[in-house]
Amino acid sequence: AMAAGIMAGCGGEKKAASSEGLKPLKVATNATYVPFEFKSKDGKDYTGYEIDVVRAVAQDMNRKVEFKNVAFDGLIPALQSKEVDMTASGMTATKERADKILFAAPFYATKLAIVTKADSDIHSVEDLLKEKEVAVQVGTTAAYYAAEKGMNTRNFDHSSDIVMELKAGGANAGILDKPAADYFVATDGKGAFRVVDVPDSKVQYFAFGFNKDNKELQQEVNAAIAKLKKDGTLNKLHEKWFNT
Ligand code: ARG
Repeated sequence: AMAAGIMAGCGGEKKAASSEGLKPLKVATNATYVPFEFKSKDGKDYTGYEIDVVRAVAQDMNRKVEFKNVAFDGLIPALQSKEVDMTASGMTATKERADKILFAAPFYATKLAIVTKADSDIHSVEDLLKEKEVAVQVGTTAAYYAAEKGMNTRNFDHSSDIVMELKAGGANAGILDKPAADYFVATDGKGAFRVVDVPDSKVQYFAFGFNKDNKELQQEVNAAIAKLKKDGTLNKLHEKWFNT
């Protein structure tokens, strides 16, 4: 990453030539999480804040990126089988997951939040315990949180299904990471939905994941993230996606 940093100022030619020799970085994601990772309207391109961060990290490392779309609960297995080099999926670096994989330095910190219809009678976490149907994505910290609280959950493979279910009136509320909830309410769900904070949820530190054997890549990615923090790239990307 040091060399890439020095070369970054010297024009693209050398960079392009040197990247040919390196294998593409294979990155697994569950591209259903607006605005972090999702597919463009035509379904061809990966897009989102985290996708942009991955591309910036890869560029710093002179690597091309190959994204692979997998179910959220298939991300850790994909690392363990070495099918991919890295995960980038709004994944919270939890203790339980850190037993199985390595995490990079977090690139984001947030909490969980509830999405519900603007006119619903849900105003707190406690209200979700009163025979409400709560939509969550399988394998996520939101699903674990809801289960711990004994909520009546409906489990979906994709985050985008939660939003669809809410629109269809099939669940009373959904639990997501707060920025995903806020983004939905500011865009697609504007006027019809609102966000209720979940103050007692743990802080969700989002981080890229790696196979336990791949400390080298973890270190390299950490160096790139540190650089992108310092040079303002992460801030710029954050503004691009979150100033709605
Ligand atoms: N931060 C939560 C977790 O780690 C949810 C992430 C969901 N990400 C996704 N791409 N659907 O469990």
